Amino acid sequence: MRLKDKVAILTGAASGMGAATAKMFAAEGATVIVTDLAVDDGAAVADDIAAAGGEARFLKLDVASETDWARVVSETVSAYGRIDILINNAGISGSHPDQLNTTTWDEQMNIYAKGVFLGMQAVIPVMQQAGRGSIVNISSISAFVGQAYVHMGYNAAKGAVRVATKSAAVQFAADGIRVNSVHPGIMPPMRNAMMSADPEGRRTRIAAVPARRAGRVEEVAYANLFLASDEASYITGIELPVDGGYLAV
Ligand SMILES: NC(=O)c1ccc[n+]([C@@H]2O[C@H](COP(=O)([O-])OP(=O)(O)OC[C@H]3O[C@@H](n4cnc5c(N)ncnc54)[C@H](O)[C@@H]3O)[C@@H](O)[C@H]2O)c1
Repeated sequence: MRLKDKVAILTGAASGMGAATAKMFAAEGATVIVTDLAVDDGAAVADDIAAAGGEARFLKLDVASETDWARVVSETVSAYGRIDILINNAGISGSHPDQLNTTTWDEQMNIYAKGVFLGMQAVIPVMQQAGRGSIVNISSISAFVGQAYVHMGYNAAKGAVRVATKSAAVQFAADGIRVNSVHPGIMPPMRNAMMSADPEGRRTRIAAVPARRAGRVEEVAYANLFLASDEASYITGIELPVDGGYLAV
């Protein structure tokens, strides 16, 4: 098993790519801390993992709350004595119809730029003490290019995640901590997607992807698995697109 004896915290793991990654990690031997704001769905993911013979528990976490992070890290360390992996995945859609809306800018920066920073801030001291750790920050193709249907706050926040990943990789490599970013392309719509869920718009965008299809959540989970595992032991500071060739055009 590729994550045997490892303890992993995943954010936004009640749904989509986070839930798929949580299930895959548990199947590969990790103890999984499923965190999310969505309590019922998050607990259901942990129950599914346990029913399949894996080890998981759900903890409520708002990624933008420093207090929540302190609680989740302390409960995880008390229960399991270690944190080997953090997957910073939580998020809300950036396809807001009002492209000059300030609230959307603030929300995007708060959840992505600040939330990912707070997650790293919370786990890095534990990883430093252990002399090992792997952090995967979920960014997006939107960290590289603008898109007509995406609020610029989403692009900016995902760009912040992309480069903050490199800062952390450089600053903590000597502590045995690896930090990488994964950049999904056109995937199943997010729970609160607006413009990006429109079927006609999706058809047009998918037709422009070299692979001519949307990605599957497991395809991102496999990328997360590789980067989280010791198989990637000399890989840090990279950005890995999982996008069917979107960024190669
Ligand atoms: N779906 C796509 O097309 C796509 C493409 C590129 C990147 N991404 C990124 O992938 C990640 C996962 O997206 P998904 O498609 O699985 O979305 P999703 O909507 O299915 O899941 C996101 C989860 O994050 C949770 N969440 C939202 N705000 C939170 C907060 N403040 N604290 C904790 N949890 C919170 C939600 O409750 C939800 O369970 C996100 O970072 C997203 O930006 C998605």
